Formats: sequence, C-alpha cells, structure tokens
Amino acid sequence: MVDKAIAEFRAALRSATSVMVLSGAGVSAESGVPTFRGAGGLWRRWSATELATPEAWARDAGLVWEFYDYRRRRMADVQPNPAHHALAAFEARWSAAGRELELVTQNIDGLHEQAGSRAVTRLHGSIWHVRCLRCGAVTPNRDVPITPAYEGAGDPDPHAHARRFTADDLPRCACSGILRPHVVWFGESLAEEDLGRAVAAAERCDALIVVGTSAVVYPAAGLIPLARRSGAVVCEINLSPTPATNGVDYHFCGPAGVVLPELLEGLPEVG
Ligand code: OAD
Repeated sequence: MVDKAIAEFRAALRSATSVMVLSGAGVSAESGVPTFRGAGGLWRRWSATELATPEAWARDAGLVWEFYDYRRRRMADVQPNPAHHALAAFEARWSAAGRELELVTQNIDGLHEQAGSRAVTRLHGSIWHVRCLRCGAVTPNRDVPITPAYEGAGDPDPHAHARRFTADDLPRCACSGILRPHVVWFGESLAEEDLGRAVAAAERCDALIVVGTSAVVYPAAGLIPLARRSGAVVCEINLSPTPATNGVDYHFCGPAGVVLPELLEGLPEVG
C-alpha cells in the first residue's frame, strides 16, 4: 500500500509543471560510493581542509591528487542504482509530457548522467574531468591511476613527513600545464553559471525533491528554503533527519533506491 504522505506528494507532482531535484552523496551510497559524513564517510577518516582546499593544493598537490586518485579508483566500476534510474526514467516521461525538470546535484561521480539523466547541473564539478591550471581547458579524463606514478597508491596521509609525489608525477595538459581535479574545493566559489541555474530552478519549481544530502553545505543547502519560500512543495528523502527536515513539507525516511522509484513510478500519468 502506498503511504498516505507519498500519495500526497505524488498528487503535488501531478499538478506541477516544473520540478527540481537536489541530490547528494546518499543517492550514490547504494552504488557503493562512500558518503562524506556519517558511518564510513570520507570526512570521518580524513580532514576536508587537509585534502580538499586551495591551501591543501598549494601545500602538496601530489597528496591532493592521491586523494582524488583514490576516490576515482573507488568510483571507476560503480554503477547507477535504482534511485539514479528512477530519476532518469522520470525525466524522460516528464519532458515527453512537456514539463520541466532540473536535477541539481552535489555529486561529482557522474552516476546521474550514466543512468541517462540529461538536465543535470553539477554544483561541485566532476571527478571525471580535469582542468589545466595554465590554459584553463576542462577535459574528460578517466585515467586510473591518474599517472603511472600513482599505481598502487591510494591511502593519502596528510601527516606523513616525506612527500610521496613530486611535480613530475602530476598529470599534465597538452600545453604542459599542471592538471587539477575539476571539482569545487572548500573555500572556492561555485561556477556562477551553475549556481545561477540552480537558483533559478529553485525559484521556479512547483515541487522540490531533496534526496540523500545532509543539507549542511552551502550554497546548495540554501536552495531548499529558497524553493519553499518561492512556493514549492518540498519533500526530503533520507535515512535520517537533517537540519533541513523541519523546513520541508514531507520527510520520507528510507533508502533513496527504494523511496524514489515508489514516489515517481508512472508519473506523470498520460491520458
Ligand atoms: P553527506 O555525506 O554530507 O550526506 C549524505 C546524506 O545522505 C546523509 O544525510 C545520509 O543520512 C544520507 N544517506 C546515506 N545513504 C542514503 C541512502 N541510501 N538513501 C538516502 N539517504 C542516504 O553528503 P552531501 O550532503 O552530498 O562537497 O555532502 C555535501 C557536500 O559536502 C559534498 O558535495 C562535498 C562534501 O564535503 C565538496 O566536496 C565541496
């Protein structure tokens, strides 16, 4: 039997023209990608400021690349799960019906796109792209290891005394500039265009689905109250309550890979 609250949110979706989804690491957890906070989270084991900031890069770029190489290795063979597939299938039906969907993700793993989602705004960049520090070119890159020097690496230790990697070990652009991961680090601004698209979607949407995010990192988390203030009906799908929970209309407690397929199944009904 479909839960009463699920039925109510499905009714809100039925009458919506524009829907926004805000996703976080919890959506990819069932694919085997580690989240950041909570049990097994990356920030439980490592300090974000030691590995994911411009200061960390300036201190030891080789160490930062070791961290991203480790994460690329862990993500290389994972597959989209039923949550990603439910969103992609929903988008296909939804846009065929002439309605608008914007999927705004904080994830850098590319799994939404791999499942077939098209209107994806990646607020925090992509782990499968690199950016040249000299010419600025952003290019796809799926090399694992990122350079031969990283073969067998993968346990970054910010407190080790000796550096494990030198400038010669870092990936290079065709222009010979050093390549960095095309992701947003703490202390960096989001790309203006991406944030602008996300803000516009939040202001415009009739319904917002927030899924698998701890809702503590801004500006992403700020999109939730923005959508609600702008008149959207908001639901949150998570294994546990978050700081956003009190400000949403519905909290669906459960794994994204179970709740999303149930929530979106067959919508919008045609005919
Ligand atoms: P977090 O790791 O902070 O939060 C993941 C959320 O997903 C938690 O609230 C979990 O309860 C929930 N969760 C876990 N498994 C789930 C499942 N199967 N179904 C539903 N929910 C589940 O990840 P984010 O909120 O995405 O930023 O983190 C936001 C940003 O903080 C990241 O983009 C990253 C990080 O530092 C940067 O690197 C800039």
